[in-house]
Amino acid sequence: METPNRKLDHLRITLVEDVEAGSTWLEFVMVPHKAVPELNLEKVSTEVEVFGKKLKAPIIVTGMTGGNEHAAKINAVIAEVVEELGLGMGVGSQRAAVEHPELAWTFRIARERAPNALIIANLGAPQLLKGYGIEEIEKVIEMIDADAIAIHLNAAQEAFQPEGDVDYEGLVARLQEIVDKVKKPIIIKETGAGLDYDSVKVLRDIGIKAFDVSGSGGTSWVRVEMYRAREKGDEVLAEVAEWMSSWGIPTAASVMEARAAAPDSLIIASGGIRNGMHAVKSIALGADMVGVALPALKAAYRGKEELKKFLRAMMLSVKIGLFLTGSPSLRYLKGKAVVMGPLKEWAVQRGVYEEWLKARRQKSLSP
Ligand SMILES: Cc1cc2nc3c(=O)[nH]c(=O)nc-3n(C[C@H](O)[C@H](O)[C@H](O)COP(=O)(O)O)c2cc1C
Repeated sequence: METPNRKLDHLRITLVEDVEAGSTWLEFVMVPHKAVPELNLEKVSTEVEVFGKKLKAPIIVTGMTGGNEHAAKINAVIAEVVEELGLGMGVGSQRAAVEHPELAWTFRIARERAPNALIIANLGAPQLLKGYGIEEIEKVIEMIDADAIAIHLNAAQEAFQPEGDVDYEGLVARLQEIVDKVKKPIIIKETGAGLDYDSVKVLRDIGIKAFDVSGSGGTSWVRVEMYRAREKGDEVLAEVAEWMSSWGIPTAASVMEARAAAPDSLIIASGGIRNGMHAVKSIALGADMVGVALPALKAAYRGKEELKKFLRAMMLSVKIGLFLTGSPSLRYLKGKAVVMGPLKEWAVQRGVYEEWLKARRQKSLSP
């Protein structure tokens, strides 16, 4: 069972090794303080409606795991906590359960423990080019009664796996064939290397309306594969992976590119979101929501209370961030960021700065 074993490797390596690399560039995002906020903190609302679900704050735990017993335990902890706090979560790639239906329970446990929360199904884009279609997509959505499905892009990771799925040819055409047939919204999601303007634009043009940027600066899948290559004695691959660990578009730059390319879409900022300040800055940059993976995994591994503490602190930060910028709700914070130094330079040279300025405050799917 190749897929479940690889997933177990990933869990172990991300929990034990130093798998983070680069920077999110959120240090170049400033959020102007408002000395006279003219608001009562108690009345500030961090609520958001996404894919038909009301969330207490714009925070989700993005898809990580499933497919084995340890993963099921982690999914259960995350699910119980997001249900209690009124947040959302994704499960990891459900390919393992499509190939081995006896593993479906390791994903389904998320819906069982979170009957009301926003739950996002997950499949990899390369699978769509290897024969997966509408049938498999509907199957994984039904498996967990999901509210949406994330199709993840992980070219950077696959390139560093000897067994990687490195054929991405024809992906846009394939997505175009299925986008209107899927009954639930599709989120296109990177996995730590960031979404760029052109990719978001072409996907938005075929009807995709939600994007999770998963930029660089947090978990580096190139680094995860570096550890695996070392363990397997593949020294060349390990060396290349070490050199290229920080590959990707920093999360802050990716949010700007995605927002510029898809002014009317739901944009999730993720990749290296480690605290509440990161969340506030991401929304001020123009994201609708934020996603966290590795810190939630580590907290969940330590237990429910640890994860609850972390996510409650994230929620409180967003509320205080709204208050201190004079924002009664999320949409007032959106687009208030000032971008500095290399981040602004990036946006100008990439030709997205003017479009970002126009798009950042536009009302997208969230209220
Ligand atoms: C252990 C682990 C497993 C992951 N598996 C998946 C996956 O199956 N599908 C997916 O879309 N993303 C997966 N991711 C990527 C995360 O959802 C996220 O995009 C990435 O880790 C960056 O966020 P972070 O810096 O907060 O960890 C995984 C992340 C971790 C840490």
